[in-house]
This record gives sequence, C-alpha cells and structure tokens, in this order.
Amino acid sequence: MLCSTVFKKVILFKYIAPSRYLVEPIVRTVHERDIDDIYEIEVKCFPRDAYPKGLLSYYLMLSKDTSFVIEVDSKVVGYIIILIRWRKLGHVLSLAVDPQYRGKGYGRFLLREAIKRVSREHGVEVFRLEVRASNIPAIKLYKSLGFQYGLLRPGYYQDGEACYVMFLRKYI
Ligand SMILES: CC(C)(COP(=O)(O)OP(=O)(O)OC[C@H]1O[C@@H](n2cnc3c(N)ncnc32)[C@H](O)[C@@H]1OP(=O)(O)O)[C@@H](O)C(=O)NCCC(=O)NCCS
Repeated sequence: MLCSTVFKKVILFKYIAPSRYLVEPIVRTVHERDIDDIYEIEVKCFPRDAYPKGLLSYYLMLSKDTSFVIEVDSKVVGYIIILIRWRKLGHVLSLAVDPQYRGKGYGRFLLREAIKRVSREHGVEVFRLEVRASNIPAIKLYKSLGFQYGLLRPGYYQDGEACYVMFLRKYI
C-alpha cells in the first residue's frame, strides 16, 4: 500500500511538476554574430583570466560544430566551447552562464546537451576540463554529471591557484 502511494507520487511529480524554467532554454551551435555576447559573458564570469576576444574567436572558429550557446527569450545567457583533440577527446575550454541567469538549471542543461551532441555526432568518448580548485559551484555541477577528479595541478593559473583536471567517460 505504502509502496503504491509512493509510486503514484513519483509518477505525479514527474509528469505534473512544472518545468524548472520560466522560459524553456534553447541550445544551439555558435554563430559568428554571437561573439560579442559571448565575450561580454566571458569578461563578467572570469574577471581574473578572461580569454582575449581574438583568442576566443579563434577557439570558436576551431570548434564551431562543438561549441554552443544557450538562449533564453532569444537572449544568449551562456556558452560552452569544446575542442576535439585526437578525435576522441572533448576538451571543455570554457563554460559560463551570465551571473543574472545562474542557479536556474541553465548551466547543467547546456553542459548536458553539449556532451550529448558532441559524443553522438562526433564520436567523442572522453571529456576533459580544468577547473579552479576553489570553484565549488562548477565542481559540484561537473560531479553531478559524472565527471571525476583526475590530477591536481598546482600553480596552473596565473595567480598561482591550482586546478583540478576532471574527466568524464561517455559510453555512447
Ligand atoms: C558554473 C556555472 C556555469 C553554473 O551555472 P548555473 O546555471 O548557475 O548552474 P545550474 O543552475 O545549472 O546548477 C547546476 C548545479 O551546479 C551546482 N551549483 C550551481 N551554483 C552553485 C552555487 N552557487 N553553489 C554551489 N553549487 C552550485 C549545483 O550542484 C547545481 O545543482 P542543484 O541546483 O541541483 O544543486 C556558473 O556558476 C558560472 O558561469 N560560473 C562562472 C564561470 C565558471 O566558473 N565556469 C566554469 C569554469 S571551469
């Protein structure tokens, strides 16, 4: 009896609970016209070590099929850049969500969609990234999607902070 009540509640929650988002986000590949929006978010999100605009454009050009923006109400609110190395490795070079849009599930939605598409469409089996050792929100997000700690690299950033290298093995 108890079991069946719990089961019904789970089913009800799954199908009736409203979406977490007020507006459904859209994830799409990057267009050339997005560069200003992406750079603006990059500077807001990485005040200590934002990529210069030229380098950002270069990375986006190299990875145009494997980099994505997330749009809410037709506004770009986040982006992810993934570079494929040695055919099978997806290197996450950058992931950021505009501070005004954080904590609403957009970061996870974007990362999950990007991983799904890059692994299915490009045969990528392993994802790798570097994250500041103090960046708890990002580390929690990565762990929630199955990323595991690899090594700790002391002094990785210019200000001397260490990074964790994290990996996700994707079984396509
Ligand atoms: C990391 C980042 C992309 C997360 O984006 P977001 O849209 O706020 O994340 P979500 O709302 O999808 O949250 C996903 C999970 O991340 C973790 N998380 C997000 N914000 C957090 C916070 N302030 N504190 C602790 N954990 C947090 C939680 O595990 C959360 O899951 P939960 O809501 O089920 O608990 C965003 O904080 C960001 O752009 N940070 C600055 C740039 C950056 O550090 N990028 C990563 C570089 S490696």
